[in-house]
Amino acid sequence: MGLKRDEGNINSEFKMRSFIRMPLSSAFLSRKLDDFGAISTNRNETLTHKSLRHHRPSLILEIYEALSSRSNLLTVDEYDRCGPAKLPLTARNYFLGASGRRTTYKRNKDAFDEIKIVPRMLRDVSKNSLETSTLGLDVDFPIGLSPVALHRLAHPDGEIATVAGISPFRTIMILSSFASTLLEEVARAAQDSSIHLWMQMYIFDNHTWTTTLIRRAERSGFRGIVITADSPVYASLTCDGRNQILTQTEVDLENIDASKIKFSPSAVFRDITWLRSLTKLPIIIKGLLSGADATRAILAGASAILVSNHGGRQMDGAPAAIEALPGVVDAVNKLFPRRDVYMDGGVRSGQDVFKAIARGAKMVFIGRPIIWGLAIGGAKGVNNVMTTLRNEFNETMLLAGASNVKEIRKDTLIPLVPIWG
Ligand SMILES: Cc1cc2nc3c(=O)[nH]c(=O)nc-3n(C[C@H](O)[C@H](O)[C@H](O)COP(=O)(O)O)c2cc1C
Repeated sequence: MGLKRDEGNINSEFKMRSFIRMPLSSAFLSRKLDDFGAISTNRNETLTHKSLRHHRPSLILEIYEALSSRSNLLTVDEYDRCGPAKLPLTARNYFLGASGRRTTYKRNKDAFDEIKIVPRMLRDVSKNSLETSTLGLDVDFPIGLSPVALHRLAHPDGEIATVAGISPFRTIMILSSFASTLLEEVARAAQDSSIHLWMQMYIFDNHTWTTTLIRRAERSGFRGIVITADSPVYASLTCDGRNQILTQTEVDLENIDASKIKFSPSAVFRDITWLRSLTKLPIIIKGLLSGADATRAILAGASAILVSNHGGRQMDGAPAAIEALPGVVDAVNKLFPRRDVYMDGGVRSGQDVFKAIARGAKMVFIGRPIIWGLAIGGAKGVNNVMTTLRNEFNETMLLAGASNVKEIRKDTLIPLVPIWG
């Protein structure tokens, strides 16, 4: 169409498409929402984002109408861009929230884009499989769900819809201790599927709560305990104005009484040893970004490490998870070659999954994309996100010359490790 992509021209592209009744492509919509800054717009809100000043409010409403009729966006990136627009402002800000100047939140995605894949040709990829296994669990593909609090803020059926969405797959879902559904109900919903459930918790200041949660998870058939270690205190979250982050809602934490417990600022590696003595389930330590910490965690009793900066919600200025990954993998491999390392943070495409696996992750986990799937299409939206990511990953693998995850080579990436690594 020869249009330059400045705001005015996208605006006229929109008008022209409406005029000739051309269906709005999801790519067009996501570009539009990107320009608006998906964070700040809402039907009932004053439009505050700088770039919005130039647009007619009615145009925005039309875009939301078109958007809400779509539940089959084509890429996970589109879910990421369009999902927030489906939620009321406070919920949207809660899920998009990040700490400080949001540099780590942004870096998680940008760092992926800076890595290039140099495909290997003529490798016979006719027989391919995405299957892998970790901690004795077989999975259909190396992509699982990170723990994200309060799914019912994104959809009335919350965590149950999430389970329904991923139920066709053998995969791992980490349930947040801040879930809005009882862990026993989530386990019941998952019992006839091939989903493996892991229970996430923090090192709480109240040890009785931690013990109780572990016992409940064991009784309900959870297969692992994930301890999030990056939260000695709550970080202040920013989004589109601090005050609009979630304050009051009917959706509640169903598994813990938040008035009785808080994160333990005195948590130390010895607590992992204490947790290890409490349960036979594998303990996965989430939220580490350095090889030294990963080594200490394993020495203290961890079975695996999930490299994560909490989706940019704790230490702002921390490296992207994909940047921190190689250092952790190297340190762990040196001393404990059989221990698995996973990562989460900023994974928005099958290429990202490929890059993380090439840099040594056994599995990657996704946080916000599942929320956007829920917001856009409930269980079906969640299913679309997982299916899309799996298919993108499969295609990337084949194009790069690998027919299974073991054949994914580190040296298909440029750079192999972060420039500063
Ligand atoms: C709204 C929200 C709530 C979260 N809640 C938890 C939680 O309860 N426990 C936890 O360990 N991590 C939590 N996380 C962090 C995620 O597990 C994960 O590390 C992060 O979302 C990955 O980044 P991504 O959203 O870019 O995929 C939360 C993240 C978000 C966005």
